[in-house]
Amino acid sequence: MARIGLLTGGGDCPGLNAVIRAVVRKGSQEGHELLGYRNGWAGVLAGESTELTPATTRGILHRGGTILGTSRTNPYKEDGGGDRIRATMERDGVHALIPIGGEDTLGVAGRLHDEGVHVVGVPKTIDNDLAGTDFTFGFQTAVQIATDAIDRLHTTAESHHRVIVVEVMGRHAGWIAAYSGMAGGADVILVPERRFDVEEVCDRVRRRHDSGSTFSIVVVAEGALPTDDAEVRSLHQGTDAFGHARLGGIAVHLEQQIEARTGYETRMTILGHVQRGGTPLAYDRVLGTRFGVAAIEAAHEGDFGTMVALRGTEIIRVPLGEALAEPKLLDPAFYETAEVFFG
Ligand code: F6P
Repeated sequence: MARIGLLTGGGDCPGLNAVIRAVVRKGSQEGHELLGYRNGWAGVLAGESTELTPATTRGILHRGGTILGTSRTNPYKEDGGGDRIRATMERDGVHALIPIGGEDTLGVAGRLHDEGVHVVGVPKTIDNDLAGTDFTFGFQTAVQIATDAIDRLHTTAESHHRVIVVEVMGRHAGWIAAYSGMAGGADVILVPERRFDVEEVCDRVRRRHDSGSTFSIVVVAEGALPTDDAEVRSLHQGTDAFGHARLGGIAVHLEQQIEARTGYETRMTILGHVQRGGTPLAYDRVLGTRFGVAAIEAAHEGDFGTMVALRGTEIIRVPLGEALAEPKLLDPAFYETAEVFFG
């Protein structure tokens, strides 16, 4: 029997509560005690935690967000961060940590592992850009939300004979843009992996209109970059504790450019955090549940420094270093398939 801590860090993601519930349920069956740290690494630094039991995690499977709260706190940006984490774990009698997060949260986990802390990571991000796993949980829900939005924008674009630019999340990778764009029948999809020429986008829209269509849908990932720009366009300033710029706003630029260059009336919609909120799809509840059970099993067996991952239909363990080496970018073949349907 051991005491195991868990935390959810970085942007929230549909399915986090499914992971928490699964870790607690399986961990309790194995005779472990579970301690949930509040608000990501901030809670470990501050020693803010709550006991988690099957009773206290009942009824959360279908709920979005995270019952533990989250933050983008980077302990290595704080004075003595690593030591403070170890001190909290020692004081709480916590033998191992299960951090549920993306590249930043798991990056901290990897560093702690190198310093001798027992960790098992669970991959979370709606962006689906973590290497080592075929999918992260939360991605399918975000894609469905974006696809539903594109369907709705389609009918209003068609009625008004407009171009509509839809901006979705995706900092380094265009997975959400490519999947929702393909599912929603987008006429152009712009992703961070491929710089785009605004004139080429306009040409595609013109071609469509020349061949009889009176409206077009352009899906753009927030991290997509025009060929002439040195940096991603954003309406915001400043960076978070991991050095990431706050994105959002490339659609504003595209709206202006497409309307000015083509003369077609154009509108833009930035979907933003609606993609991360609310009820997880069944797929993400199932994947989160499988990840949670696999993570506590790895901790139970003392297989630390690993991350649970989906490979094909199997849940496997990969070294944290493998998952963190570089982001998992959009498969070029997938993009080429989407391109078949562009205007
Ligand atoms: O979690 C990744 C992500 O969804 C990115 O696509 C996006 O840029 C970021 O989160 C926004 O997060 P927040 O505004 O909550 O800090």
